[in-house]
Amino acid sequence: MGELIAVLSGKGGTGKTSVCAGIAAALAADGRRVLCVDCDVGLRNLDISLGMTDSSALSFLDVCEGGYDLSQAAVHPLYPSLHFLTAPMNCPPEDISADAFGTMLTKARAVYDYIFLDAPAGVDAGFRLTAAFADRCILVTGPGPAAIRDAARAAELLELMGKTNNRLIVNRVSKKMVSAMDLTIDDVMDTAGLPLLGVIPEDGHVTLAAAFSQPLLRYSRRCAAAKACRRIAKRIQGFPEPITFR
Ligand SMILES: Nc1ncnc2c1ncn2[C@@H]1O[C@H](COP(=O)(O)OP(=O)(O)OP(=O)(O)O)[C@@H](O)[C@H]1O
Ligand SMILES: [Mg+2]
Repeated sequence: MGELIAVLSGKGGTGKTSVCAGIAAALAADGRRVLCVDCDVGLRNLDISLGMTDSSALSFLDVCEGGYDLSQAAVHPLYPSLHFLTAPMNCPPEDISADAFGTMLTKARAVYDYIFLDAPAGVDAGFRLTAAFADRCILVTGPGPAAIRDAARAAELLELMGKTNNRLIVNRVSKKMVSAMDLTIDDVMDTAGLPLLGVIPEDGHVTLAAAFSQPLLRYSRRCAAAKACRRIAKRIQGFPEPITFR
């Protein structure tokens, strides 16, 4: 049975889509069968971060309600075990049947090791639909205390939905900021009230990769953010990988 992982934040622009694509590709590079589902209806861009802009991808609504089969999901050109369903352009999340969405995800669990759901910004219907069926929720936040507290608030909403397996990823961390703020892993977990799944550095390759529609992992050797995504993918698979800021 595959694991369903929702990537959320509440606040917009924290790096959900970039992080989701980076970790999903790292799991596929490790030989895992992975499905990525863009849940950002109307503002989809997971295809860009995955490096799949050219594929005329099926949307999850096509599979939920349009008579298409999960086996028709777009296949990644570099990682054949990484598949993708985009978000529909014109259907508000309120109008999407949670039952049909849940049925599709139940079918996906039988086929894939991991299913990643990339949430939209905000904590309304799109947030709830993305989290509704997840086994594990990953909250992506920036490094400052205000951003971490926002993530903690989003985690409280998840707990009200009965979601208790919540983890934090702190994204866009710079060495300068860590030493200036004297930031420690324990401080972050105390502020968030959440266990930490990983730390991803500020890295220009993230925007560069998206600009060239290339998966971040292509820049692995030079790219600290790609390396961090690989380490997070290992942790998700249950391997012991220490978390460090430096
Ligand atoms: N670790 C990083 N280093 C540098 N830039 C980053 C990093 N992570 C994300 N970015 C940049 O931040 C911007 C927002 O990233 P992204 O689209 O992944 O965020 P998001 O949370 O999915 O946004 P939205 O809430 O709008 O869906 C992008 O320009 C991306 O390239
Ligand atoms: Mg996004």
